[in-house]
Amino acid sequence: MQKNISNFTYFNPTKILFGKNQISALDQLIPSNKKVLITYGGGSVIKFGTLDKVKEALGKREYGEFGGIEANPTFETAMKAVELVKKEGYDFLLAVGGGSVIDATKFIVAAAEFEGDPINIFGSGIGTREPIKTALPFGTILTLPATGSEMNAGSVITFKEKKAKVSFGSPKVFPTFSILEPELTYTLPERQLANGVIDAFVHITEQYLTFPVDAMVQDRFSEGLLQTLIEIGPDVIDETNKDYNLRANFMWTATNALNGTLSPGVPQDWASHDLGHEITALYHIDHARTLSIVLPALLTIRKNEKHGKLVQYAERVWHITEGSDEEKVTAAIEKTKVFFERLGAPTSFKDIDLGEEVVEILVAQLEKHGKNSLSERKDQTIEISRKIYQAAL
Ligand code: NZQ
Ligand code: ZN
Repeated sequence: MQKNISNFTYFNPTKILFGKNQISALDQLIPSNKKVLITYGGGSVIKFGTLDKVKEALGKREYGEFGGIEANPTFETAMKAVELVKKEGYDFLLAVGGGSVIDATKFIVAAAEFEGDPINIFGSGIGTREPIKTALPFGTILTLPATGSEMNAGSVITFKEKKAKVSFGSPKVFPTFSILEPELTYTLPERQLANGVIDAFVHITEQYLTFPVDAMVQDRFSEGLLQTLIEIGPDVIDETNKDYNLRANFMWTATNALNGTLSPGVPQDWASHDLGHEITALYHIDHARTLSIVLPALLTIRKNEKHGKLVQYAERVWHITEGSDEEKVTAAIEKTKVFFERLGAPTSFKDIDLGEEVVEILVAQLEKHGKNSLSERKDQTIEISRKIYQAAL
């Protein structure tokens, strides 16, 4: 088993502009000869005036728009944008929205330049997972802190008919720049704010709750971000609370939770995401609300494999100092669950009105998508995943 910090290459080319009135910098950020396609979602950016601000900041340069990207963006919708890009000759994309709009835009910039059928950008039984050799440049204006997509090179796309959520990643799809204005979060409803806190929280645990390799910096970064979310989470979800620093701290935490800061050289376990994606694909449950159901169950079933880091998590993140190690671990898992519940999120299938009939259906989807050796040790078999779904009932 790995005992040391692995060799790593750390690279993140995304320029961040954080703070107030940053959208006005767009004119300098995008070369004036570029033909820009603005991408957005179901209309929140129109309703709250962000799109108007963006258009004003783009000045006299040529631009068009593509709206209607769904939450959990679909391949089908993104392909319509790919056709538009090719037909109209757009050569710079600007994503204005949350993780869904940014993820779809990552696919669009890669697919527009892809030789052959863009379905082959994906693996997991969908395509042949060919490398992405080039992609168009793009920037983002983030309206929902949650996924970290604004500063990473990953994307998750939904295939509606195949009932699958499939990710791809490539250094070619790092955003050139991302604008992070905490004030853009003021229009988010409580549910999306809670989703953001939980998604960021679980991104951190996926890179932290594995086995110890004595990575002091990565561990303490993770613990600092987790403690920040625990401290501010209950205030963040109050949609009437427009405290600037509160939202600024939330936004920067979510970005750092999945921008490569926490992962260098340490083991990672994306099993909560893998098990959660199957729930969203079949039952259309928000991404974060699948994680709040899966994570406590996964930690319970996998507590022996994760024992060392769970004790560390209990002591350093939740400050549990009493009792045996076993008791500390149990208490930390319970505190995690209570934290999610306090944010109004479900922590069992019962909470989303699903019963034991889902277990075999979800397990069959995992099998179909080749998810039979998950976790930091690749030892999470289908049988163990079944136990996790059962523990979440
Ligand atoms: O579509 P509009 O009308 O814009 O409304 C959106 C959407 O309904 C709304 N919203 C966004 N900003 C708003 C706002 N409403 C009011 N005020 C604002 N400022 O919020 C709703 C949800 O948006 P969405 O982009 O879907 O949420 P999120 O950012 O949570 O993204 C979820 C997607 O990202 C993927 C998920 O699987 C899911 O498909 N992920 C991407 C990752 C990555 N690329 O690294 C990692 C994550 O683990 C995750 O899997
Ligand atoms: Zn996530």
